[in-house]
Amino acid sequence: MLPTNRSRPQQRPPRSWSFSEMDFSDPKRKPRYLSKIVMVALLTAMCVVMLTQPPCHRRTPSVFSIHENGVTHVLVTGGAGYIGSHAALRLLKDSFRVTIVDNLSRGNMGAIKVLQSLFPEPGRLQFIYADLGDPKAVNRIFAGNSFDAVMHFAAVAYVGESTLEPLRYYHNITSNTLVVLEAMAAHNVKTLIYSSTCATYGEPEKMPITEETPQFPINPYGKAKKMAEDIILDFTKSKKSDMAVMILRYFNVIGSDPEGKLGEAPRPELREHGRISGACFDAALGIIPGLKVKGTDYETPDGTCVRDYIDVTDLVDAHVKALNKAEKGKVGIYNVGTGKGHQL
Ligand SMILES: NC(=O)c1ccc[n+]([C@@H]2O[C@H](COP(=O)([O-])OP(=O)(O)OC[C@H]3O[C@@H](n4cnc5c(N)ncnc54)[C@H](O)[C@@H]3O)[C@@H](O)[C@H]2O)c1
Repeated sequence: MLPTNRSRPQQRPPRSWSFSEMDFSDPKRKPRYLSKIVMVALLTAMCVVMLTQPPCHRRTPSVFSIHENGVTHVLVTGGAGYIGSHAALRLLKDSFRVTIVDNLSRGNMGAIKVLQSLFPEPGRLQFIYADLGDPKAVNRIFAGNSFDAVMHFAAVAYVGESTLEPLRYYHNITSNTLVVLEAMAAHNVKTLIYSSTCATYGEPEKMPITEETPQFPINPYGKAKKMAEDIILDFTKSKKSDMAVMILRYFNVIGSDPEGKLGEAPRPELREHGRISGACFDAALGIIPGLKVKGTDYETPDGTCVRDYIDVTDLVDAHVKALNKAEKGKVGIYNVGTGKGHQL
């Protein structure tokens, strides 16, 4: 049998940690209290040191927030989308540092994951989920990162949809470009490569369309892009700006990177707006039974439309060349197409 006095441990009086109750006369307890005093003194000293340091010394700054000699940091808006993801891939291959900002309304996380898996090294690629329609968020992004240049791809970009939802297009394209431009001005980012479109020309009578062809857009998509261009151009004319700007007006973009890692993945609800490039991917993947080429009354042998199709890899090559050639205080405007019409 166990002794009864061991079955229930004796209750000890509650310990008080108050300094006023310290008994320094007890020689056995003295070392413990001393060590506590030393510990408290150390902690207090540490707190004082931490609080007196400037904030930036408390946390290691992200590599994306510092300008590094020999490294060009490019903000790619809309980098989860078709063209933006190909541009990010090319920039990363060319050793640029890339930040992608996208709200994933149209693009997809799959493209971001592919890019992250190809360039996992720290300081190469970061993805920020944000909406360019939120000026505060955009401003925070610019404040927290050191960009050298912006490639502005993010946009809703379906002609048919733009006639159904014009306000959405003016907001998403024109107003958001203003937000980006304001953030660039506020944070001293001087180089902009802007994604524009041949839709800004409307339906000119004289072919081929050159950069001098007058711009008379006929739908909200083309008009919204033209307005965004005008805002950019007006800003570059102001003395304050000193920007290096390249406006690239693309024709019809098609194809994917030759290794097949990226492509175009139109959302099901957008299929009815019918981009032929997206339909090609859908047909190749068996998502739709076959490729339906629309149009019957064009003045062509079979009545379908002749378009200038440019491969997406050539298009992003034009962007990198534009970036490398962009000059402070200058504006370049280029049509980006092959100059030859094709029928699908
Ligand atoms: N695809 C073409 O044939 C073509 C032709 C001429 C011009 N463009 C222009 O090229 C650019 C890219 O087009 P795309 O074909 O890659 O389109 P896309 O829809 O594949 O990509 C656009 C990307 O922008 C993002 N985005 C849209 N609104 C946003 C917002 N408010 N905030 C953050 N991200 C947003 C979308 O999520 C998407 O990832 C667009 O500016 C478009 O006008 C495209």
